[in-house]
Parts: sequence; structure tokens; C-alpha cells
Amino acid sequence: MHSLINELQNYVIYHFKTEEDLMVKSQSPNIDLHVMEHELFRKKVEEFHHSYYNNNEELLNEMISFMRKWLIIHISGTDAEYADSIKDTLGIQ
Ligand SMILES: [Fe+2]
Repeated sequence: MHSLINELQNYVIYHFKTEEDLMVKSQSPNIDLHVMEHELFRKKVEEFHHSYYNNNEELLNEMISFMRKWLIIHISGTDAEYADSIKDTLGIQ
């Protein structure tokens, strides 16, 4: 469990920074709202980390549920909205 939380924290630090830099560079729409969703995710991972060290038995189920919603709503929704502008900026078809 500890390594999973560490992976999530690494994901948050690296992936969000890269994504946010690309959004700014490509002048993607709704950057503020997108960054706000990232910030909510960051806080949730911090909560998971805190719960882990307080032996919260519901942690695993809560993490799975949260990650499932994140994959559906953010990655396939919010992230997809700016994909075209990033592709244009990077010269990808
Ligand atoms: Fe995102």
C-alpha cells in the first residue's frame, strides 16, 4: 500500500507539472478549472497518505473508488478537452 501511495504522489508531482506546463504553452482553454481538478487530486492523495499512517481500514476501498472516478471524469473528460491544442502546439497530428 505504501508503494502505491508513493507512486500516486510521484504521478501527481511529475504528470501534473508536465500537463500544466503544456496547457500554458498551448494556451489551452479552461486552464484554471483544469488546474483546480489537479489540486483536488493532490489533496486527496495527501489524505490517503495521512489515512495510511493512521491505519484507516477503509483506505483501500476509498482509493479504488476515487481512482475509478478520476480515470473516468478527469482523464477521459477534462484531459481530453485540451488534447487538440496540445497536439497543435507540439506539431502532432
Ligand atoms: Fe489533467
